[in-house]
Amino acid sequence: MTACIVGWSHGKFGKLDGETSESLIVKAASEAIAHAGIEPKDVDVIYIGNMNGGFVRQEFHSSLALQTHPDLRFKPSTRVENACATGSAAIHMGLNSLAAGKARFVLVVGVEKMTELNSAQAGEVLIKASYVAEEANIEAGFAGIFGKITSAYFQRYGDKSDALAKIAVKAHKNGAKNPYAHFQKEFAYEFCRNPSDKNPFVAGPLKRTDCSPVTDGAAAVILTDVQTALGMKQAIAFRAAQHVNDFLPMSKRDIIKFEGPQLAWQRALAEAKLDLLDLSFVESHDCFTSAELIEYEAMGLTAPGEGERAIHEGWVERDGKLPVNVSGGLKAKGHPVGATGVSMHVMSAMQLSGTAPAGLQLPKARIGGVFNMGGAAVANYVSILEPLR
Ligand code: COA
Repeated sequence: MTACIVGWSHGKFGKLDGETSESLIVKAASEAIAHAGIEPKDVDVIYIGNMNGGFVRQEFHSSLALQTHPDLRFKPSTRVENACATGSAAIHMGLNSLAAGKARFVLVVGVEKMTELNSAQAGEVLIKASYVAEEANIEAGFAGIFGKITSAYFQRYGDKSDALAKIAVKAHKNGAKNPYAHFQKEFAYEFCRNPSDKNPFVAGPLKRTDCSPVTDGAAAVILTDVQTALGMKQAIAFRAAQHVNDFLPMSKRDIIKFEGPQLAWQRALAEAKLDLLDLSFVESHDCFTSAELIEYEAMGLTAPGEGERAIHEGWVERDGKLPVNVSGGLKAKGHPVGATGVSMHVMSAMQLSGTAPAGLQLPKARIGGVFNMGGAAVANYVSILEPLR
């Protein structure tokens, strides 16, 4: 255990007309600093997780954090990018700064402003997170990549559309309780299961309700060392933090195996000296419902090809043996790509400190797992978090 989250903030996710990435960063940063009970001058290093790639014209984001307060002027600040795992990548940079003794307090902000573009244009930006030389001509943006993965999974293990629909229903049932979520309403199983005008096929077997939405939002954390954290109001410790990158081309991998996520989970559980079922909950990267299905297998909850058991048998429901995405996940909470990894850590910190919004708080949240993924199982981050005391 080397570092802790000692302050956090989470804005409402959604289509945030009138906000800019600058306004989102400033709000998230100032609220996280206040929540930690420190002053802006106490922040030593800043990391901004932002993927961008054309969502907004402003590309150079690092110094936008300095707009938060004059005392942040001249602090070192860097923008970090690792596709949809950008938020966790920024947190890992913060952990590295602490481990190197270069900082006492690190501010990490994850932010994305996606909805200035329509879905098709956003898809054009997102597809840049594929192996462009071979994969960029797949239709329907990044949904096309996961449409292909889902088709390959169905070919090997049979049609799992029932399980995917149930994963969507679970996400929206949980998201309905989350005041920060993009979508805060429940979706019926029949609506998610059957294609319709309101739920058309988007890519391969994936329908609209199988996809995370295009979302704006920001979240932030303050990190510090364990010694300092002992004197803070709240402290959620990293019992493990692992990062595994795999080859980018899907042609170089068995793409339905998610070997990078599997290795990241194995290493994190070994580092934490825990079994998966020691965790009270997991926030997992459900950019598409089929991603969550395969992640059940990668985290070791079921054997390969049997991920559907986890949802059919209720294991991953709020009251199941391993609740997955109690926050509503990317599917309902939204997936502002640069913010997502930070959001997952904040949602987990809220659960572990007993401060999650009413209705969202789990009765027994002792240890939490976070899995954040960039690209199609390419950049994989697992954190295992628990209260410091
Ligand atoms: N799930 C459920 N409902 C959704 C939705 C989603 N993902 N996205 C949009 N909707 C709803 C909207 O709220 C709207 O509802 P309303 O008619 O009641 O107001 C309706 O569907 C139409 O919205 P619109 O934005 O026009 O839909 P769209 O067809 O243009 O976009 C997707 C839907 C799925 C194509 C788009 O959300 C998308 O591209 N998602 C994937 C993003 C992605 O790839 N992220 C990176 C992952 S690694």
